[in-house]
Amino acid sequence: MKTISFDYAKTSIVTNDELRAVGKELQAEIERVIAAREQEYETDYSSIHCPFDTDLIKQVQHIAEEKKTLKPTTLIVIGIGGSNLGTIAVYEAVYGLFYNEQQPDIKVYFADTVDSDYIYDIILLVEQEVEQGRNVIINVVSKSGTTTETIANFEIFLHLLKAYKKDYNNYVVVTTDEGSKLWKLAQEQHFTCIPVAQKIGGRYSVFSPVGLFPLAMLGIDIDELCAGARSIFTQCIDRDVFHNIAGISASCSYIHYQNGINIHDTFVFSKDLKSIGDWYRQLMGESIGKELNRKGEKVNIGITPTVSVGSTDLHSVTQLYLGGPYDKFTTFISVEKNKSNISLPKFDKFETLVAKIQGKPLAVIMDAILQGVKAAYQKNKRPFVSIILPEKSSFYIGQLLQFKMVEMIYLGYLLEVNPFDQPNVELYKKETREILKHE
Ligand code: PA5
Repeated sequence: MKTISFDYAKTSIVTNDELRAVGKELQAEIERVIAAREQEYETDYSSIHCPFDTDLIKQVQHIAEEKKTLKPTTLIVIGIGGSNLGTIAVYEAVYGLFYNEQQPDIKVYFADTVDSDYIYDIILLVEQEVEQGRNVIINVVSKSGTTTETIANFEIFLHLLKAYKKDYNNYVVVTTDEGSKLWKLAQEQHFTCIPVAQKIGGRYSVFSPVGLFPLAMLGIDIDELCAGARSIFTQCIDRDVFHNIAGISASCSYIHYQNGINIHDTFVFSKDLKSIGDWYRQLMGESIGKELNRKGEKVNIGITPTVSVGSTDLHSVTQLYLGGPYDKFTTFISVEKNKSNISLPKFDKFETLVAKIQGKPLAVIMDAILQGVKAAYQKNKRPFVSIILPEKSSFYIGQLLQFKMVEMIYLGYLLEVNPFDQPNVELYKKETREILKHE
């Protein structure tokens, strides 16, 4: 069985001795992750257990199959942050960016923020469906059940659904913490409710019902996704850091940070993986961007996560990346095998415009660009590591996401912060609620 590959040989700063030393520091946390796996949903590390919970995966699949008997043509996922970024990341990576245009059985729209124009456009699209007698499933996803944007959008789409469906409650699926206010309301209204284990944090929830239910509705193979996550776990808990993919990746980020490199760029060389970069941006931003460390001391620590898309952004920010300040550490993510195989025709006259591309596959040209970029990074002493996915299947995407979540747990430990909380996000939510009370 293949796994995604990780190559750190080209980082210009990190030495093996440093990695060995950081690896020693990590041992205690590796032991905690190993122990936590056995404790299922009891600890802050609960997300690790999700892909191993095959009963839950079956239950979620079952609920999705049941909802599919209503023959929905549209799924609206209402949720924000950790409650939708993982779903978007997986579905775009597996299906590509034009999924909705390719006449799928079920189209999908994501109502996250309360941008009036954006939500209006979704309403128009959904109205077209329901007016023609077609069915729409609303999946409201909110762990807390009290996120302003999510509840506001829920009210809007529920209102729309009620106007067209007497049995509207059959078309609503609520994913939330058992016992949340939203859970109680959903039970009263007879909506389908799927609980999320309380200790699974939003940004770590892609393998919980938060991600699994909408993905199953869209026909993504959630068994394969979780099988991929399970398959890489052993490599994420190896006590030898040089064989621990999550440990070595966290150590590289940590050592760069110690050397004043406090920006991390996820540079994906596949447009379909852009949302994986966005998902990671949240994972890194919220997990280690902290005012206080574990001892409660003010540290204002963090690595600023950015996302770039190759080769598009080579024509946008690469001047900065190669010529600007030495404050960035890059993870290149590329894919070995594309779904398609497109080659250029042989137009001899075009040879004078760009030489030696006639008749070549686009994948070969893209690979030459990627190798060229890596060579330029090396020449200019810009540190980077590389991840290569065999292909963009559910299995390998599952591997990537699990590897990155365990990596973030290790990075939080090394930086001495709690990677599972987000007190400053809670702060804005509280302030917003206060302001709205007086509007
Ligand atoms: O990762 C997190 O915890 C946050 O980004 C949340 O997912 C986000 O704020 C949405 O919260 P909730 O799922 O409670 O609506």
